[in-house]
Amino acid sequence: MDYFGCLFLFLLYYCLNQIHQHYTNAEMQSLSTTTRRRFLHRSSLNLINQIIRRSSSTLTINTPLSDHPPISDPDSNSAVLAEHNACSRTVLLNRPSSLNALNTSMGKRLQKLYKNWEENPDIGFVVMKGRGRAFCAGGDIVYVHDMIRKGNIEGCKEFFWTLYKFMYFVGTYLKPHVAILNGITMGGGAGVSIPGTFRVATDKTTFATPETLIGFHPDAGASFHLSHLPGYLGEYLALTGDMVNGVEMVACGLATHYSLSANVPAMEDCLKKLITDDPSVVESCLQKYSDLDYPSNASVIRRTETLNKCFSLDTVEEIIDALESEAGKTNDGWCDSILKKLKYASPLSLKVALRSIREGRFQTLDQCLIREYRMSLQGVVGQISSDLHEGVRARLVDKDFAPKWDPPSLEHVTQDMVDQYFSPLIPLEPDLDLPTKQREAFT
Ligand SMILES: *[C@@H]1O[C@H](CO)[C@@H](O)[C@H](O)[C@H]1NC(C)=O
Ligand SMILES: *[C@@H]1O[C@H](CO)[C@@H](O)[C@H](O)[C@H]1NC(C)=O
Repeated sequence: MDYFGCLFLFLLYYCLNQIHQHYTNAEMQSLSTTTRRRFLHRSSLNLINQIIRRSSSTLTINTPLSDHPPISDPDSNSAVLAEHNACSRTVLLNRPSSLNALNTSMGKRLQKLYKNWEENPDIGFVVMKGRGRAFCAGGDIVYVHDMIRKGNIEGCKEFFWTLYKFMYFVGTYLKPHVAILNGITMGGGAGVSIPGTFRVATDKTTFATPETLIGFHPDAGASFHLSHLPGYLGEYLALTGDMVNGVEMVACGLATHYSLSANVPAMEDCLKKLITDDPSVVESCLQKYSDLDYPSNASVIRRTETLNKCFSLDTVEEIIDALESEAGKTNDGWCDSILKKLKYASPLSLKVALRSIREGRFQTLDQCLIREYRMSLQGVVGQISSDLHEGVRARLVDKDFAPKWDPPSLEHVTQDMVDQYFSPLIPLEPDLDLPTKQREAFT
């Protein structure tokens, strides 16, 4: 190649490189919180850690280490309390009489606190825990039931809108998040904890997504986190509403750490003293007080063969047939106990839940929440079925455990009914608005 040819190629290379750098820099500088949130959500954990670490250099500590007086909290009687530590905040779900069930005002307060903490450079990470025997039993479904009864559909929309948005906020939080699940963790309780960085389960943890038993569908991001569990465990948990314990949560990936509840106070003390925003440093405290334990022989975790064989099938009817045939082969009663649960659940909910998990497997958290929001509105409006109203009545209000499902059996649930849960909302009804929604405009 002659001299001019070389020069030309060099200049071309140089120019392209400059242009590329210009755009890369401009892109990085113009990253708004929204963009960073979207970016984080789509990137791997490794990348998240790098970004969090990168921001470490900007961390300045103005707070003295010891004996920091609790700042006067105007809402200190509220169901959501905030404790100020050296370099972190602990949020306490404080509604033990309702097993810390979340309502709209709690969701709003959580959102506000978390947003302020995210923007505050003095705060390195956030811890969430619950008072009493529950971490959080979920969304306050009795409160929703009451709104449905009074025809307050707007109130129901606000409830789901507020809580789902907060769950997404936790899932894309720019600082490490630790949820201490030292007790009952169900539905929305999983929704506010599983998407965060760390989930500590204990010997007191019981996890479940029992929505099909109240004529609803596994919501609060469950169609994302359940569908991403190994094998067909997600279908199993979504349909049966069965419980798993803390050890099982770690075994399947719902929790990141397991600790004996007796060690939780020491773990919390360790966290309170930390001055960091580095997830690996936060994790060192969790690790230090973690225990190793294995699921029992009777655990569902040890039944993957049967479970996958049955719950991988296409329809609820086929799953039930397969379980019935397995029940004949094994005689430990496990399949029978599962069949009993499936027969109690709302037939329509079972079909809707199965499809929700199957769709969730190929979706991101934001896509799942937007879809779940549509499905939840369908449930509260009750045009297709009033199973949500009836299910909550039977299980949580009158407690007669004798719901009259409509349709009453699987064979009466039409494809059209199921499809409607997955259809766009009626015109002018806004979809759940998450910070990722502009994505369509960008790409
Ligand atoms: C939510 O629950 C708390 C604690 O029970 C209560 O003070 C608050 O009024 C409730 N919010 C709504 C909107 O009902
Ligand atoms: C669990 O199963 C293993 C292997 O089959 C057996 O050795 C062990 O005794 C069982 N443990 C219990 C508590 O049943």
